[in-house]
Amino acid sequence: MSENDLVVLLVQARANNERDAITGMLLYAEGAFLQCIEGPEYNIADLMGRLELDPRHTNFRVIHESHCDDRRFDDWTMGFRAVSAADVEGVLARVDVPRPEGGTALELIERLGRSPG
Ligand SMILES: Cc1cc2nc3c(=O)[nH]c(=O)nc-3n(C[C@H](O)[C@H](O)[C@H](O)COP(=O)(O)O)c2cc1C
Repeated sequence: MSENDLVVLLVQARANNERDAITGMLLYAEGAFLQCIEGPEYNIADLMGRLELDPRHTNFRVIHESHCDDRRFDDWTMGFRAVSAADVEGVLARVDVPRPEGGTALELIERLGRSPG
């Protein structure tokens, strides 16, 4: 994706997410995305339907799902960070193991999403 494609994607995502009370963080490295979305269940289900159908995704999958009372990214309609391939490899090495480890992926998204620079 070009930088312009990413900007278009984020403008669209943030406008929708504001409308739908969705917050989250999107990480991008070398063509791969890792995203956390949080919000009301109904709106999340709706967004999931759109994400699955989006041709900009080629290998979409859910790593972790959970109910929670507190949002991790309540200050972001969709935060965005470009991260290194090494960072993403570190994440994927953990998320390729099944769901109980998904919480670890979430913590990594939070750490990478909030790290300075
Ligand atoms: C990596 C990626 C992340 C996305 N994140 C969001 C998102 O957080 N919120 C959103 O509404 N759409 C997101 N989209 C876009 C949706 O797949 C879909 O195109 C969009 O929600 C349709 O919006 P529209 O009904 O306004 O046309 C994302 C797409 C990609 C490829």
